[in-house]
Amino acid sequence: MPALPSTVRGAVITGWGTALPPKVLTNHDLEQMMDTSDEWIVERSGIRERHVGGTTIGLSIEAGRAALDMSGVELADIDGLILATTTPDTQWGNAATVQNELGLRCGAFDLNAACSGFVYGLVAAHGLIAMGSRKILLIGTDSLSRITDWEDRNTAVLFGDGSGAVVLEAVEGPGQLLAWDLDADGSLGRLLWADVGGYINMEGKEVFRRAVRIMVDSAAKSLEHAGLTGDDISLVVPHQANIRIIQAACERLGMPMEKASVVLDRTGNTSAASIPLALGDALDQGRVKEGDLVLLVGFGGGMTAASAVLRWGGGAPAGGPA
Ligand code: ACO
Repeated sequence: MPALPSTVRGAVITGWGTALPPKVLTNHDLEQMMDTSDEWIVERSGIRERHVGGTTIGLSIEAGRAALDMSGVELADIDGLILATTTPDTQWGNAATVQNELGLRCGAFDLNAACSGFVYGLVAAHGLIAMGSRKILLIGTDSLSRITDWEDRNTAVLFGDGSGAVVLEAVEGPGQLLAWDLDADGSLGRLLWADVGGYINMEGKEVFRRAVRIMVDSAAKSLEHAGLTGDDISLVVPHQANIRIIQAACERLGMPMEKASVVLDRTGNTSAASIPLALGDALDQGRVKEGDLVLLVGFGGGMTAASAVLRWGGGAPAGGPA
């Protein structure tokens, strides 16, 4: 049901926040640890440095608190917390711990759709709001450095840690979300996987090829559901895995690279955090104006893909629970 009926109660993003661990690992640092070079990493991926350290729960608290502070919501009004992560600190209850530390009293659950998790969470949050929730805190966090094999140059140069969060508030009327698409193809699961307790494995070239295709397909579906084309979009916020994947996807969607928000040069691939980090960066820079159309699009392990089109702007706050 990707095209939203006009009767659905919508939501707007009223606050955002990001968190990166203080420790920075540059490509030159990696040169000391393995047989690689800054030149190879920049040319093949666009990544120059990444932040490593901290915990998924700790980074989530930091980003979540920043988003709550910006939105100015009463903590008691938050009805739900969704934590998208593929690197939980404990098997369950990560979102509940974050909820408690932030002083919230609401439902809280972990969501795992790998790098597509934030957009899956965005759609789930809209579903909760459509059914009566007033305000939702959505966080995307990953601590990939913990599941990275630092002796494997094929993967170690790509990943980092971070978190990004948004507060969604119910509004009278349709809200920001115009259309969305959630997708998965489990037959491709072994292209990119990590066993419980194990490290990230991937068939890099094949992931690259599939990633472009699955991202473009998902974005095209959302654009079609919204009755839009790439020309209408002011800002595209893609999953930050590889600059060449972003370039190829933008080209196929008919969008110039200037429309893309890119942070991967500073963050590496932070999985579920990558889209909210890139969105937060664009918002902090004032790149998004009232009425602008924003396309979020991710892909990740599973393989999963997800996209959403938002029309940026406010809306009258809704009353109490429906
Ligand atoms: N430094 C130097 N050389 C390297 C390194 C490195 N870090 N890693 C691999 N190489 C070598 C390879 O061994 C290979 O050498 P060979 O030709 O002698 O065998 C050579 O570089 C070329 O390797 P390719 O695999 O052909 O390089 P490619 O251009 O495909 O780039 C990359 C590799 C960057 C991994 C690319 O395929 C990619 O980005 N794939 C997608 C990965 C991705 O997006 N993963 C994340 C998804 S989401 C998630 O994980 C949560």
